[in-house]
Amino acid sequence: MTKVAVIYHSGYGHTAKQAQAVAKGAGSVEGVSAQLISVDAADQHWDDLAAADAIIFGAPTYMGSLSGPFKSFMDASSKAWFSQGWKDKIAAGFTNSGSQSGDKLNSLVQLAVFAAQHSMIWVGTGLMPGNNSSKGSVEDINRLGSFLGAMAQSNSDAPPELAPPPADLKTAELLGERVAKAAKRWNGKA
Ligand SMILES: Cc1cc2nc3c(=O)[nH]c(=O)nc-3n(C[C@H](O)[C@H](O)[C@H](O)COP(=O)(O)O)c2cc1C
Repeated sequence: MTKVAVIYHSGYGHTAKQAQAVAKGAGSVEGVSAQLISVDAADQHWDDLAAADAIIFGAPTYMGSLSGPFKSFMDASSKAWFSQGWKDKIAAGFTNSGSQSGDKLNSLVQLAVFAAQHSMIWVGTGLMPGNNSSKGSVEDINRLGSFLGAMAQSNSDAPPELAPPPADLKTAELLGERVAKAAKRWNGKA
């Protein structure tokens, strides 16, 4: 069984919805189990992260970068870094914010650099950008046009039941599926 862990922070529930979609996509691949972990419970899950074949990182974008609680998790992971315990695991990332841009790319760059410090293998969305032509729509997959990781946007007055919208949740799901397939191939199981 190939194991994919999805570890995320969410202050108000929107990024949690995105994380659930990522885990759903990963778990949809045959022979793959997906585990969803909140950074609030990270201390109980270091062994699970060590056992995972792939780790997908996610956090909301706050003040143009990753949220504070997620950054605390990154700092705490230095223990695993010392022994390079996550070396050669597959990695990917996602982020959600209020604005269409909101400087989300900076958060994904932070996640990719973080994964590189752990000597992980970064996987992007592999999705062509949507909503970028006269035939496009906000319902397109990858409507925010991100290759580095999955982006989602949540209107600031919408509850997590309504935001992020279905297109962004589907984009998140496809990232999870892609990472699960990549992890299987990397492990020689597919
Ligand atoms: C402290 C703080 C800083 C924020 N900074 C940004 C930002 O830089 N760019 C942006 O587009 N949205 C920003 N937002 C909006 C959040 O990214 C947005 O509400 C998101 O959906 C929150 O996700 P969550 O419910 O998982 O915490 C910020 C929100 C908070 C609370």
